[in-house]
Amino acid sequence: MNVVVVNGPNLNLLGEREPGVYGDLTLDQLEQHIRERAKTLGIDVRFYQSNHEGRLIDYLHRMRTWADGVVINPGAFTHYSYAIRDAVSAIAKPTIEVHLSDIQHREPFRAVSVIADVCIAQISGLGLDSYLQALERLAAKTTG
Ligand code: DQA
Repeated sequence: MNVVVVNGPNLNLLGEREPGVYGDLTLDQLEQHIRERAKTLGIDVRFYQSNHEGRLIDYLHRMRTWADGVVINPGAFTHYSYAIRDAVSAIAKPTIEVHLSDIQHREPFRAVSVIADVCIAQISGLGLDSYLQALERLAAKTTG
């Protein structure tokens, strides 16, 4: 199974960005942990991060022939990007929205996701485990 793990704006600064909220792992370290879990699950994984809405959309479009599933942390785009929502919907792959922090229990604007209802699940508030659980859910979908 092929999975793309896509991270949106400001997630390149993980490790130094509000570590009390987002944790101490850098994006490289986070991706390394995901890569290791993917290997044990027999998943071939590719990573992408951008601070630009259009680049995220272009990447999703490009990967639509390779990917069997998508794990996406759209960052703040979660809360207002209908364009990313439409891209997720357009490529029609099982997609899981993930967040490091618990978006339901922060500022009210973060509780709203315009992406969630085109995804098969939203996993939030578990740090790295949000991504690892998403991989496991996708793997279980193909084996179960
Ligand atoms: C985030 C939560 C968003 O509200 C925020 O804008 C982010 C990160 C998270 O992973 O917790 O950039 O998606």
